[in-house]
Amino acid sequence: PVLVVDFGAQYAQLIARRVREANVFSEVVPSTMAADEMLAKEPAAIILSGGPSSVYEDGAPKLDPALLEAGVPVFGMCYGFQAMVQALGGTVERTGLSEYGSTPAQVSDTESTLFNGQPAEQSVWMSHGDSATSAPEGMRVTAATSGAPVAAIEDDERRLYGVQWHPEVMHSTFGQRVLENFLLRGAGLSGEWTAANVVESLVADVKETIGDKRVLCALSGGVDSSVAAALVQRAVGDQLTCVFVDHGLLRSGEAEQVEKEFVEATGVDLVVVDAREQFLSALAGVSDPEEKRKIIGREFIRVFEQAARDIVGSGEREGHPVEFLVQGTLYPDVVESGGGTGTANIKSHHNVGGLPDDLQFKLVEPLRLLFKDEVRQVGLELGVPEVIVWRQPFPGPGLGIRIVGEVTADRLDILRAADEIARHELSAAGLDRDIWQCPVVLLADVRSVGVQGDGRTYGHPVVLRPVSSEDAMTADWTRVPYEVLAKISTRITNEVREVNRVVLDVTSKPPGTIEWE
Ligand code: XMP
Repeated sequence: PVLVVDFGAQYAQLIARRVREANVFSEVVPSTMAADEMLAKEPAAIILSGGPSSVYEDGAPKLDPALLEAGVPVFGMCYGFQAMVQALGGTVERTGLSEYGSTPAQVSDTESTLFNGQPAEQSVWMSHGDSATSAPEGMRVTAATSGAPVAAIEDDERRLYGVQWHPEVMHSTFGQRVLENFLLRGAGLSGEWTAANVVESLVADVKETIGDKRVLCALSGGVDSSVAAALVQRAVGDQLTCVFVDHGLLRSGEAEQVEKEFVEATGVDLVVVDAREQFLSALAGVSDPEEKRKIIGREFIRVFEQAARDIVGSGEREGHPVEFLVQGTLYPDVVESGGGTGTANIKSHHNVGGLPDDLQFKLVEPLRLLFKDEVRQVGLELGVPEVIVWRQPFPGPGLGIRIVGEVTADRLDILRAADEIARHELSAAGLDRDIWQCPVVLLADVRSVGVQGDGRTYGHPVVLRPVSSEDAMTADWTRVPYEVLAKISTRITNEVREVNRVVLDVTSKPPGTIEWE
Protein backbone atom coordinates (compact mmCIF):
# COMPACT_ATOMS: atom_id res chain seq x y z
CA PRO A 1 0.00 0.00 0.00
CA VAL A 2 0.82 3.68 -0.02
CA LEU A 3 1.03 4.66 3.63
CA VAL A 4 -0.41 8.00 4.64
CA VAL A 5 1.30 8.96 7.88
CA ASP A 6 -1.21 10.95 9.93
CA PHE A 7 0.44 13.85 11.73
CA GLY A 8 -2.81 14.78 13.38
CA ALA A 9 -4.42 16.67 10.55
CA GLN A 10 -8.02 16.24 9.60
CA TYR A 11 -6.64 15.74 6.11
CA ALA A 12 -5.12 12.25 6.36
CA GLN A 13 -8.28 10.41 5.36
CA LEU A 14 -8.83 12.84 2.54
CA ILE A 15 -5.30 12.19 1.26
CA ALA A 16 -5.94 8.45 1.43
CA ARG A 17 -9.06 8.93 -0.69
CA ARG A 18 -7.25 11.06 -3.24
CA VAL A 19 -4.58 8.38 -3.59
CA ARG A 20 -7.28 5.82 -4.22
CA GLU A 21 -8.87 8.11 -6.79
CA ALA A 22 -5.62 7.64 -8.67
CA ASN A 23 -6.37 3.88 -8.45
CA VAL A 24 -3.61 3.24 -5.96
CA PHE A 25 -4.36 1.52 -2.66
CA SER A 26 -3.65 3.55 0.47
CA GLU A 27 -3.81 3.13 4.22
CA VAL A 28 -3.71 5.67 7.04
CA VAL A 29 -1.25 5.01 9.88
CA PRO A 30 -0.69 7.18 12.97
CA SER A 31 2.62 9.06 13.13
CA THR A 32 3.22 7.38 16.47
CA MET A 33 3.63 4.00 14.78
CA ALA A 34 7.28 2.89 14.83
CA ALA A 35 9.15 3.28 11.55
CA ASP A 36 10.01 -0.44 11.61
CA GLU A 37 6.38 -1.33 11.77
CA MET A 38 5.53 1.00 8.91
CA LEU A 39 8.31 -0.38 6.76
CA ALA A 40 7.26 -3.93 7.59
CA LYS A 41 4.13 -3.20 5.60
CA GLU A 42 6.38 -2.90 2.57
CA PRO A 43 4.89 0.41 1.49
CA ALA A 44 5.08 1.26 -2.18
CA ALA A 45 5.33 4.91 -1.15
CA ILE A 46 4.89 7.03 1.95
CA ILE A 47 2.97 10.28 2.24
CA LEU A 48 3.53 12.56 5.22
CA SER A 49 0.34 14.47 5.98
CA GLY A 50 -0.13 17.98 7.26
CA GLY A 51 -0.68 18.58 10.94
CA PRO A 52 -1.59 21.29 13.39
CA SER A 53 1.83 21.61 15.02
CA SER A 54 4.95 23.63 14.38
CA VAL A 55 8.01 21.43 13.98
CA TYR A 56 9.59 23.41 16.83
CA GLU A 57 6.92 22.84 19.40
CA ASP A 58 7.56 20.54 22.32
CA GLY A 59 5.68 17.37 21.69
CA ALA A 60 5.38 18.04 17.96
CA PRO A 61 4.95 14.69 16.21
CA LYS A 62 8.30 13.35 15.08
CA LEU A 63 9.39 12.10 11.71
CA ASP A 64 11.76 9.17 12.03
CA PRO A 65 14.55 9.77 9.48
CA ALA A 66 14.59 6.00 8.88
CA LEU A 67 11.49 6.52 6.71
CA LEU A 68 13.50 8.80 4.43
CA GLU A 69 16.44 6.41 4.18
CA ALA A 70 14.62 3.19 3.38
CA GLY A 71 14.64 3.71 -0.37
CA VAL A 72 10.85 4.12 -0.35
CA PRO A 73 9.51 7.13 -2.31
CA VAL A 74 8.25 9.82 0.09
CA PHE A 75 5.99 12.81 -0.44
CA GLY A 76 5.63 15.40 2.34
CA MET A 77 2.73 17.84 2.50
CA CYS A 78 2.56 20.95 4.70
CA TYR A 79 3.70 19.82 8.17
CA GLY A 80 5.00 16.61 6.60
CA PHE A 81 6.98 18.73 4.14
CA GLN A 82 8.53 20.80 6.91
CA ALA A 83 9.36 17.77 9.01
CA MET A 84 11.04 16.29 5.95
CA VAL A 85 13.03 19.47 5.17
CA GLN A 86 14.23 19.59 8.73
CA ALA A 87 15.14 15.91 8.90
CA LEU A 88 17.16 16.17 5.70
CA GLY A 89 19.20 19.16 6.90
CA GLY A 90 17.32 22.11 5.41
CA THR A 91 16.00 24.96 7.54
CA VAL A 92 12.50 25.74 8.71
CA GLU A 93 11.91 29.11 10.35
CA ARG A 94 9.17 31.32 11.63
CA THR A 95 9.52 34.06 9.01
CA GLY A 96 6.42 35.99 9.99
CA LEU A 97 5.08 35.37 6.50
CA SER A 98 2.22 33.02 7.25
CA GLU A 99 -0.18 32.13 4.48
CA TYR A 100 -3.71 30.78 4.82
CA GLY A 101 -6.08 29.96 2.00
CA SER A 102 -5.70 30.12 -1.76
CA THR A 103 -2.31 31.44 -2.80
CA PRO A 104 -0.64 31.71 -6.22
CA ALA A 105 2.44 29.50 -6.53
CA GLN A 106 5.18 29.96 -9.14
CA VAL A 107 6.47 26.72 -10.58
CA SER A 108 10.05 27.09 -11.79
CA ASP A 109 10.27 23.79 -13.67
CA THR A 110 7.15 22.63 -15.48
CA GLU A 111 8.94 19.50 -16.62
CA SER A 112 9.80 18.27 -13.17
CA THR A 113 8.39 15.05 -11.78
CA LEU A 114 5.71 16.77 -9.72
CA PHE A 115 4.75 19.56 -12.11
CA ASN A 116 5.06 17.95 -15.49
CA GLY A 117 2.25 19.01 -17.76
CA GLN A 118 1.03 21.84 -15.53
CA PRO A 119 1.08 25.64 -15.84
CA ALA A 120 3.85 27.74 -14.28
CA GLU A 121 1.38 29.57 -12.09
CA GLN A 122 -1.19 27.68 -10.11
CA SER A 123 -3.44 28.30 -7.17
CA VAL A 124 -2.56 26.27 -4.08
CA TRP A 125 -4.17 25.92 -0.66
CA MET A 126 -1.80 27.03 2.09
CA SER A 127 -2.03 26.83 5.83
CA HIS A 128 1.33 27.52 7.46
CA GLY A 129 3.07 29.75 9.97
CA ASP A 130 6.60 28.37 9.59
CA SER A 131 8.39 28.27 6.24
CA ALA A 132 11.28 26.35 4.76
CA THR A 133 13.99 28.90 3.99
CA SER A 134 16.65 26.63 2.57
CA ALA A 135 16.30 23.29 0.86
CA PRO A 136 18.19 20.20 2.05
CA GLU A 137 21.38 19.51 0.16
CA GLY A 138 20.87 17.78 -3.15
CA MET A 139 17.20 18.75 -3.44
CA ARG A 140 15.86 21.02 -6.14
CA VAL A 141 13.41 23.79 -5.33
CA THR A 142 10.70 23.67 -7.99
CA ALA A 143 8.07 26.10 -6.71
CA ALA A 144 7.76 29.19 -4.54
CA THR A 145 5.05 31.47 -3.19
CA SER A 146 5.43 34.99 -1.85
CA GLY A 147 5.48 33.70 1.72
CA ALA A 148 7.39 30.48 1.09
CA PRO A 149 10.56 30.74 -1.00
CA VAL A 150 10.99 26.98 -0.77
CA ALA A 151 7.47 25.72 -1.48
CA ALA A 152 8.28 22.51 -3.36
CA ILE A 153 11.32 20.25 -3.33
CA GLU A 154 12.24 17.28 -5.49
CA ASP A 155 14.99 14.70 -5.58
CA ASP A 156 14.54 12.11 -8.30
CA GLU A 157 17.54 10.12 -7.22
CA ARG A 158 16.37 9.42 -3.70
CA ARG A 159 12.73 9.76 -4.82
CA LEU A 160 11.92 12.31 -2.12
CA TYR A 161 9.38 15.05 -2.79
CA GLY A 162 7.43 17.64 -0.89
CA VAL A 163 5.16 20.66 -1.17
CA GLN A 164 4.36 23.30 1.42
CA TRP A 165 0.69 23.31 0.46
CA HIS A 166 -2.24 20.90 0.62
CA PRO A 167 -2.57 19.20 -2.78
CA GLU A 168 -5.40 17.03 -1.46
CA VAL A 169 -7.93 19.86 -1.12
CA MET A 170 -9.96 20.97 -4.10
CA HIS A 171 -8.80 24.57 -3.82
CA SER A 172 -5.36 23.48 -4.99
CA THR A 173 -6.30 23.53 -8.65
CA PHE A 174 -3.65 21.07 -9.83
CA GLY A 175 -3.43 19.22 -6.53
CA GLN A 176 -4.65 15.88 -7.82
CA ARG A 177 -2.26 16.12 -10.79
CA VAL A 178 0.67 16.82 -8.45
CA LEU A 179 -0.30 13.84 -6.31
CA GLU A 180 -0.71 11.58 -9.34
CA ASN A 181 2.62 12.72 -10.70
CA PHE A 182 4.24 11.71 -7.43
CA LEU A 183 2.52 8.32 -7.39
CA LEU A 184 2.86 7.38 -11.05
CA ARG A 185 6.03 9.21 -12.15
CA GLY A 186 7.93 9.72 -8.90
CA ALA A 187 7.15 6.42 -7.23
CA GLY A 188 6.61 4.56 -10.49
CA LEU A 189 3.34 2.97 -9.37
CA SER A 190 0.68 1.84 -11.79
CA GLY A 191 -2.95 2.64 -11.06
CA GLU A 192 -4.35 -0.85 -10.77
CA TRP A 193 -6.55 -0.49 -7.74
CA THR A 194 -9.94 -0.61 -9.41
CA ALA A 195 -13.30 -1.82 -8.17
CA ALA A 196 -12.95 -5.03 -10.19
CA ASN A 197 -9.57 -5.85 -8.67
CA VAL A 198 -10.77 -4.93 -5.22
CA VAL A 199 -13.71 -7.31 -5.50
CA GLU A 200 -11.43 -10.10 -6.60
CA SER A 201 -9.01 -9.70 -3.72
CA LEU A 202 -11.71 -9.17 -1.08
CA VAL A 203 -13.55 -12.26 -2.28
CA ALA A 204 -10.34 -14.27 -1.99
CA ASP A 205 -9.75 -12.93 1.55
CA VAL A 206 -13.25 -13.74 2.70
CA LYS A 207 -13.06 -17.22 1.23
CA GLU A 208 -9.87 -17.90 3.09
CA THR A 209 -11.19 -16.52 6.38
CA ILE A 210 -14.46 -18.40 6.34
CA GLY A 211 -13.40 -21.70 4.85
CA ASP A 212 -16.31 -24.12 5.03
CA LYS A 213 -17.98 -22.47 8.03
CA ARG A 214 -21.36 -20.80 7.94
CA VAL A 215 -21.99 -17.08 8.10
CA LEU A 216 -24.88 -14.92 9.18
CA CYS A 217 -25.66 -11.37 8.14
CA ALA A 218 -28.26 -8.92 9.42
CA LEU A 219 -29.37 -7.16 6.28
CA SER A 220 -30.82 -3.71 6.84
CA GLY A 221 -31.37 -2.76 3.24
CA GLY A 222 -28.78 0.01 3.58
CA VAL A 223 -25.77 0.30 1.29
CA ASP A 224 -23.15 -1.10 3.64
CA SER A 225 -24.83 -4.27 4.84
CA SER A 226 -26.11 -5.00 1.34
CA VAL A 227 -22.71 -4.70 -0.31
CA ALA A 228 -21.03 -6.65 2.50
CA ALA A 229 -23.59 -9.43 2.09
CA ALA A 230 -23.22 -9.50 -1.69
CA LEU A 231 -19.46 -9.77 -1.34
CA VAL A 232 -19.62 -12.62 1.16
CA GLN A 233 -22.19 -14.35 -1.02
CA ARG A 234 -19.82 -14.10 -3.97
CA ALA A 235 -17.11 -15.67 -1.81
CA VAL A 236 -18.90 -18.52 -0.03
CA GLY A 237 -22.28 -18.83 -1.73
CA ASP A 238 -25.00 -20.38 0.37
CA GLN A 239 -22.81 -20.82 3.42
CA LEU A 240 -24.19 -17.31 3.98
CA THR A 241 -27.66 -16.75 5.37
CA CYS A 242 -29.03 -13.19 5.50
CA VAL A 243 -31.68 -12.19 7.97
CA PHE A 244 -33.86 -9.24 7.08
CA VAL A 245 -36.01 -8.01 9.92
CA ASP A 246 -39.03 -6.19 8.55
CA HIS A 247 -39.89 -3.97 11.49
CA GLY A 248 -42.54 -2.06 9.56
CA LEU A 249 -40.60 1.20 9.94
CA LEU A 250 -39.17 1.19 6.43
CA ARG A 251 -40.03 3.54 3.61
CA SER A 252 -42.28 2.59 0.79
CA GLY A 253 -40.79 -0.04 -1.50
CA GLU A 254 -37.69 -0.73 0.58
CA ALA A 255 -38.59 -4.13 1.93
CA GLU A 256 -39.64 -5.25 -1.56
CA GLN A 257 -36.37 -4.04 -3.08
CA VAL A 258 -34.43 -6.17 -0.63
CA GLU A 259 -36.70 -9.20 -0.84
CA LYS A 260 -36.94 -9.26 -4.62
CA GLU A 261 -34.42 -7.18 -6.52
CA PHE A 262 -31.49 -7.68 -4.17
CA VAL A 263 -32.03 -11.42 -3.90
CA GLU A 264 -32.46 -11.80 -7.64
CA ALA A 265 -29.36 -9.78 -8.42
CA THR A 266 -27.04 -11.36 -5.88
CA GLY A 267 -28.48 -14.80 -5.17
CA VAL A 268 -28.22 -14.46 -1.39
CA ASP A 269 -30.08 -16.90 0.80
CA LEU A 270 -32.53 -14.61 2.58
CA VAL A 271 -34.70 -15.19 5.61
CA VAL A 272 -37.31 -12.46 6.02
CA VAL A 273 -38.77 -12.08 9.46
CA ASP A 274 -42.06 -10.23 9.48
CA ALA A 275 -41.92 -8.50 12.86
CA ARG A 276 -44.20 -5.58 12.07
CA GLU A 277 -46.81 -6.47 14.69
CA GLN A 278 -44.20 -7.08 17.34
CA PHE A 279 -42.59 -3.68 16.84
CA LEU A 280 -45.88 -1.82 16.69
CA SER A 281 -47.15 -3.31 19.91
CA ALA A 282 -43.83 -2.68 21.63
CA LEU A 283 -44.05 0.96 20.54
CA ALA A 284 -47.69 1.48 21.51
CA GLY A 285 -48.22 4.50 23.73
CA VAL A 286 -44.57 5.62 23.56
CA SER A 287 -43.67 9.08 22.30
CA ASP A 288 -40.35 9.81 24.02
CA PRO A 289 -37.60 9.65 21.35
CA GLU A 290 -34.98 7.92 23.47
CA GLU A 291 -37.46 5.38 24.68
CA LYS A 292 -38.54 4.66 21.11
CA ARG A 293 -34.95 4.15 20.08
CA LYS A 294 -34.32 1.78 22.99
CA ILE A 295 -37.42 -0.26 22.24
CA ILE A 296 -36.60 -0.56 18.56
CA GLY A 297 -33.01 -1.58 19.32
CA ARG A 298 -34.13 -4.12 21.90
CA GLU A 299 -36.81 -5.68 19.70
CA PHE A 300 -34.38 -5.85 16.80
CA ILE A 301 -31.94 -7.86 18.85
CA ARG A 302 -34.70 -10.15 20.09
CA VAL A 303 -35.91 -10.91 16.60
CA PHE A 304 -32.45 -11.35 15.17
CA GLU A 305 -31.40 -13.53 18.07
CA GLN A 306 -34.37 -15.82 17.59
CA ALA A 307 -33.74 -16.03 13.86
CA ALA A 308 -30.09 -16.79 14.52
CA ARG A 309 -31.04 -19.58 16.92
CA ASP A 310 -33.47 -21.04 14.41
CA ILE A 311 -30.83 -21.01 11.71
CA VAL A 312 -28.08 -22.33 13.96
CA GLY A 313 -30.35 -25.07 15.20
CA SER A 314 -31.92 -25.86 11.89
CA GLY A 315 -29.46 -28.68 11.35
CA GLU A 316 -29.65 -28.24 7.61
CA ARG A 317 -25.93 -28.21 7.25
CA GLU A 318 -24.84 -30.36 10.18
CA GLY A 319 -21.25 -30.17 11.17
CA HIS A 320 -20.87 -26.65 9.88
CA PRO A 321 -22.00 -24.37 12.65
CA VAL A 322 -22.55 -20.66 12.12
CA GLU A 323 -19.29 -19.15 13.23
CA PHE A 324 -19.19 -15.77 11.58
CA LEU A 325 -21.30 -12.65 11.50
CA VAL A 326 -20.95 -10.13 8.66
CA GLN A 327 -20.68 -6.46 9.58
CA GLY A 328 -20.63 -3.54 7.15
CA THR A 329 -17.96 -1.57 9.04
CA LEU A 330 -16.26 1.08 6.86
CA TYR A 331 -12.74 2.50 6.88
CA PRO A 332 -13.52 5.86 8.54
CA ASP A 333 -14.81 3.98 11.62
CA VAL A 334 -11.73 1.81 11.62
CA VAL A 335 -9.38 4.80 11.40
CA GLU A 336 -11.32 6.76 13.98
CA SER A 337 -11.24 3.94 16.48
CA GLY A 338 -7.46 3.94 16.12
CA GLY A 339 -7.34 0.64 14.31
CA GLY A 340 -6.21 1.84 10.91
CA THR A 341 -3.30 -0.53 10.98
CA GLY A 342 -4.48 -4.06 10.41
CA THR A 343 -5.36 -5.38 7.00
CA ALA A 344 -7.00 -8.51 8.37
CA ASN A 345 -10.70 -8.52 7.68
CA ILE A 346 -11.57 -10.11 10.93
CA LYS A 347 -11.77 -8.81 14.48
CA SER A 348 -11.31 -10.86 17.58
CA HIS A 349 -13.98 -13.02 19.12
CA HIS A 350 -16.81 -10.75 19.90
CA ASN A 351 -20.23 -10.75 21.42
CA VAL A 352 -22.13 -8.54 19.06
CA GLY A 353 -24.65 -5.90 20.00
CA GLY A 354 -25.93 -7.62 23.08
CA LEU A 355 -26.40 -11.08 21.58
CA PRO A 356 -26.50 -13.72 24.32
CA ASP A 357 -23.39 -15.63 25.33
CA ASP A 358 -24.38 -18.88 23.67
CA LEU A 359 -24.38 -17.11 20.31
CA GLN A 360 -20.80 -16.07 19.89
CA PHE A 361 -19.58 -15.01 16.52
CA LYS A 362 -16.40 -13.88 14.94
CA LEU A 363 -16.92 -10.77 12.88
CA VAL A 364 -16.22 -10.64 9.18
CA GLU A 365 -15.84 -7.05 8.07
CA PRO A 366 -15.07 -7.21 4.36
CA LEU A 367 -15.51 -3.45 3.81
CA ARG A 368 -13.29 -2.30 6.64
CA LEU A 369 -10.69 -0.83 4.32
CA LEU A 370 -13.13 1.01 2.05
CA PHE A 371 -14.61 4.48 1.95
CA LYS A 372 -18.30 4.94 1.24
CA ASP A 373 -17.87 5.90 -2.40
CA GLU A 374 -15.69 2.82 -2.90
CA VAL A 375 -18.30 0.62 -1.27
CA ARG A 376 -20.75 1.92 -3.86
CA GLN A 377 -18.34 1.10 -6.71
CA VAL A 378 -17.78 -2.37 -5.30
CA GLY A 379 -21.56 -2.79 -4.98
CA LEU A 380 -22.07 -1.90 -8.63
CA GLU A 381 -19.30 -4.29 -9.59
CA LEU A 382 -21.09 -7.06 -7.67
CA GLY A 383 -24.37 -6.29 -9.40
CA VAL A 384 -26.15 -4.88 -6.35
CA PRO A 385 -29.19 -2.98 -7.71
CA GLU A 386 -28.64 0.75 -8.20
CA VAL A 387 -31.63 1.66 -6.02
CA ILE A 388 -29.76 0.11 -3.13
CA VAL A 389 -26.25 1.22 -4.08
CA TRP A 390 -27.30 4.87 -4.30
CA ARG A 391 -29.62 4.78 -1.33
CA GLN A 392 -29.30 7.74 1.00
CA PRO A 393 -28.45 7.09 4.65
CA PHE A 394 -31.46 5.91 6.61
CA PRO A 395 -31.41 5.46 10.38
CA GLY A 396 -31.71 1.98 11.88
CA PRO A 397 -34.87 2.96 13.85
CA GLY A 398 -36.35 4.07 10.54
CA LEU A 399 -39.59 5.99 10.34
CA GLY A 400 -40.07 5.31 14.05
CA ILE A 401 -37.96 8.39 14.81
CA ARG A 402 -39.55 10.49 12.05
CA ILE A 403 -42.97 10.50 13.65
CA VAL A 404 -42.96 13.06 16.42
CA GLY A 405 -45.39 11.46 18.82
CA GLU A 406 -46.63 7.90 19.16
CA VAL A 407 -45.92 5.51 16.31
CA THR A 408 -49.03 3.84 14.93
CA ALA A 409 -49.79 1.91 11.77
CA ASP A 410 -51.94 4.75 10.39
CA ARG A 411 -49.32 7.36 11.04
CA LEU A 412 -46.69 5.20 9.38
CA ASP A 413 -48.89 4.95 6.29
CA ILE A 414 -49.29 8.74 6.16
CA LEU A 415 -45.58 9.34 6.52
CA ARG A 416 -44.68 6.67 3.97
CA ALA A 417 -46.97 8.28 1.41
CA ALA A 418 -45.57 11.78 1.97
CA ASP A 419 -41.99 10.50 2.00
CA GLU A 420 -42.48 8.64 -1.26
CA ILE A 421 -43.68 11.81 -2.99
CA ALA A 422 -40.79 13.89 -1.65
CA ARG A 423 -38.22 11.29 -2.67
CA HIS A 424 -39.74 10.91 -6.09
CA GLU A 425 -39.76 14.64 -6.84
CA LEU A 426 -36.24 15.26 -5.52
CA SER A 427 -34.94 12.45 -7.72
CA ALA A 428 -36.90 13.68 -10.71
CA ALA A 429 -35.32 17.11 -10.22
CA GLY A 430 -31.88 15.48 -10.36
CA LEU A 431 -31.03 16.45 -6.79
CA ASP A 432 -30.09 13.05 -5.37
CA ARG A 433 -26.37 13.67 -5.44
CA ASP A 434 -26.65 17.22 -4.02
CA ILE A 435 -28.67 16.04 -1.08
CA TRP A 436 -27.06 13.88 1.57
CA GLN A 437 -30.48 12.80 2.77
CA CYS A 438 -33.92 14.31 3.16
CA PRO A 439 -35.86 13.06 6.14
CA VAL A 440 -39.59 13.72 5.96
CA VAL A 441 -41.01 14.13 9.44
CA LEU A 442 -44.63 13.78 10.51
CA LEU A 443 -45.65 16.07 13.37
CA ALA A 444 -48.28 13.66 14.51
CA ASP A 445 -49.33 15.53 17.62
CA VAL A 446 -49.63 18.88 15.89
CA ARG A 447 -52.78 19.86 14.04
CA SER A 448 -53.58 22.99 12.14
CA VAL A 449 -56.58 24.34 10.30
CA GLY A 450 -56.63 24.20 6.56
CA VAL A 451 -58.99 24.34 3.66
CA GLN A 452 -58.93 21.58 1.11
CA GLY A 453 -61.51 21.34 -1.61
CA ASP A 454 -64.51 23.19 -0.16
CA GLY A 455 -64.11 22.12 3.38
CA ARG A 456 -62.26 22.97 6.53
CA THR A 457 -59.57 20.47 7.50
CA TYR A 458 -57.74 19.91 10.72
CA GLY A 459 -54.69 17.95 9.64
CA HIS A 460 -51.03 17.35 10.36
CA PRO A 461 -47.94 19.12 9.05
CA VAL A 462 -45.01 17.26 7.54
CA VAL A 463 -41.51 18.73 7.64
CA LEU A 464 -39.02 18.44 4.78
CA ARG A 465 -35.46 18.26 6.09
CA PRO A 466 -33.12 18.23 3.06
CA VAL A 467 -29.47 18.44 4.15
CA SER A 468 -26.10 18.61 2.44
CA SER A 469 -23.21 17.00 4.26
CA GLU A 470 -19.88 15.21 3.85
CA ASP A 471 -20.16 12.83 6.76
CA ALA A 472 -23.34 13.67 8.76
CA MET A 473 -21.23 15.13 11.58
CA THR A 474 -22.12 18.60 10.38
CA ALA A 475 -24.69 19.55 7.77
CA ASP A 476 -26.32 22.51 6.13
CA TRP A 477 -29.87 22.68 4.86
CA THR A 478 -29.97 22.23 1.11
CA ARG A 479 -31.22 25.13 -0.98
CA VAL A 480 -33.75 23.11 -2.93
CA PRO A 481 -35.20 25.19 -5.80
CA TYR A 482 -38.58 26.76 -4.99
CA GLU A 483 -40.29 25.06 -7.93
CA VAL A 484 -39.29 21.65 -6.64
CA LEU A 485 -40.51 22.52 -3.13
CA ALA A 486 -43.74 23.82 -4.60
CA LYS A 487 -44.32 20.61 -6.49
CA ILE A 488 -43.65 18.45 -3.44
CA SER A 489 -45.94 20.58 -1.30
CA THR A 490 -48.77 20.55 -3.82
CA ARG A 491 -48.56 16.84 -4.38
CA ILE A 492 -48.38 15.90 -0.72
CA THR A 493 -51.33 18.08 0.29
CA ASN A 494 -53.36 16.85 -2.68
CA GLU A 495 -52.52 13.19 -2.41
CA VAL A 496 -52.12 12.57 1.29
CA ARG A 497 -55.46 13.42 2.81
CA GLU A 498 -54.32 13.71 6.42
CA VAL A 499 -51.61 16.27 5.66
CA ASN A 500 -52.66 19.88 5.07
CA ARG A 501 -49.36 21.70 5.54
CA VAL A 502 -45.78 21.17 4.32
CA VAL A 503 -42.99 23.05 6.07
CA LEU A 504 -39.26 23.34 5.36
CA ASP A 505 -36.58 22.92 8.01
CA VAL A 506 -33.92 25.61 7.46
CA THR A 507 -31.63 24.71 10.36
CA SER A 508 -28.02 23.66 9.94
CA LYS A 509 -26.34 21.00 12.11
CA PRO A 510 -25.32 22.12 14.64
CA PRO A 511 -27.55 23.24 16.24
CA GLY A 512 -30.25 20.97 14.80
CA THR A 513 -29.50 17.27 14.32
CA ILE A 514 -30.43 15.80 10.94
CA GLU A 515 -33.18 13.60 12.34
CA TRP A 516 -35.83 15.20 14.53
CA GLU A 517 -35.58 12.56 17.22
P1 XMP B 1 -28.35 13.04 13.46
O1 XMP B 1 -29.83 13.04 13.59
O2 XMP B 1 -27.65 12.61 14.72
O3 XMP B 1 -28.01 11.93 12.37
O4 XMP B 1 -27.81 14.34 12.93
C1 XMP B 1 -26.75 11.75 11.80
C2 XMP B 1 -26.84 10.62 10.80
O5 XMP B 1 -27.07 9.37 11.45
C3 XMP B 1 -28.30 8.81 11.03
N1 XMP B 1 -28.89 8.23 12.23
C4 XMP B 1 -28.85 6.92 12.54
N2 XMP B 1 -28.34 5.87 11.86
N3 XMP B 1 -29.07 4.43 13.58
C5 XMP B 1 -28.48 4.62 12.38
O6 XMP B 1 -28.05 3.64 11.76
C6 XMP B 1 -29.58 5.43 14.34
O7 XMP B 1 -30.11 5.21 15.41
C7 XMP B 1 -29.47 6.74 13.76
N4 XMP B 1 -29.88 7.97 14.18
C8 XMP B 1 -29.50 8.87 13.22
C9 XMP B 1 -29.10 9.94 10.44
O8 XMP B 1 -30.02 9.47 9.47
C10 XMP B 1 -27.99 10.77 9.82
O9 XMP B 1 -27.56 10.23 8.58
